[in-house]
Amino acid sequence: MNWDDTTDEATAERLVGASAEREEQAVEAALRPKDLGEFIGQEKVREQLDLVLRAARARGATADHVLLSGAPGLGKTTLSMIIAAEMEAPIRITSGPAIQHAGDLAAILSSLQEGEVLFLDEIHRMSRPAEEMLYMAMEDFRVDVIVGKGPGATAIPLELPPFTLVGATTRAGLLPPPLRDRFGFTAHMEFYEPPELERVIHRSAHLLDVEIDTGGAAEIAGRSRGTPRIANRLLRRVRDYAQVKADGVITRDIAEAALAVYEVDSRGLDRLDRGVLEALLKLFGGGPVGLSTLAVAVGEERETVEEVAEPFLVREGLLARTPRGRVATPAAWTHLGLAPPPGPAGGNGQQDLFGA
Ligand SMILES: Nc1ncnc2c1ncn2[C@@H]1O[C@H](COP(=O)(O)OP(=O)(O)O)[C@@H](O)[C@H]1O
Ligand SMILES: [Mg+2]
Repeated sequence: MNWDDTTDEATAERLVGASAEREEQAVEAALRPKDLGEFIGQEKVREQLDLVLRAARARGATADHVLLSGAPGLGKTTLSMIIAAEMEAPIRITSGPAIQHAGDLAAILSSLQEGEVLFLDEIHRMSRPAEEMLYMAMEDFRVDVIVGKGPGATAIPLELPPFTLVGATTRAGLLPPPLRDRFGFTAHMEFYEPPELERVIHRSAHLLDVEIDTGGAAEIAGRSRGTPRIANRLLRRVRDYAQVKADGVITRDIAEAALAVYEVDSRGLDRLDRGVLEALLKLFGGGPVGLSTLAVAVGEERETVEEVAEPFLVREGLLARTPRGRVATPAAWTHLGLAPPPGPAGGNGQQDLFGA
């Protein structure tokens, strides 16, 4: 370890918002596995993707289009870069929201090199016209560029070099079927098991030159919500604590004390998760309540609640999505140390959802 020469500068940096964000991105990039062999967990996806890429390489062909779906922080961007690295191809990175006009997409597509990987993050947030242009580009490696306006407009076909589209989405269900069908390979990324997260943490600790024992890694893994990005983030915060309050070595006790300071509870719920649950229990008696109403109550975007907090809460059995709205499970009341409201039906008709 060599804390001493960098500590103060690094700590000061972290206190400043914008540079903290930049630091986060820089550290995240530094921690990205570079090839499939380094990528931890997701065995099925790795095995399947390995076959797809090997076969393409053996044929000397460009790899099929790949769709990666899964919650934020599970490794979609990382995998897209690994695909390019494994194919020894350059990669171009853009995102659905960045492509508002079909022309934006045409400009990107027409400047691709042969074999290049085009990473389209948040592909479900692309505009309709761009999406339609993408269909043709994916299937026929061709786009029609519209020149002129009104009745005089003409479509000029433009040949594209073969390329590999890697699309990433947190919501595969939102993709129109014609788009989904044009991917030769779809990988659904699952949340990680604690032992896999422990490996992620040990690997990152090694890269960051942080000393951590198995108890420390297990404690952080257990509170990482099945997500490598969160595991890495918690590791860095625990490292700060260990550095300031102890000798820099992360043990189970140090991890526990540090995570208490950062308000990450024993099941890994953070402020947002607890905020959502608390609103659901205290303001809406456990639900059912609509997603938008719940989001307003916690002062967050609907998407944040739905994509960041809910998948984890649902998986933990603390919240259920029902046709009538979001409902807290009995375990939610227990976890927050609250008593469910009295009443013949156990409060708000929850009985018919979780009945005897
Ligand atoms: N399977 C993995 N093994 C090791 N580290 C991982 C893995 N998946 C993700 N990470 C780490 O988690 C962070 C977030 O991954 P990223 O690919 O940006 O997620 P996504 O694009 O799905 O939001 C990265 O810093 C990466 O190092
Ligand atoms: Mg990403």
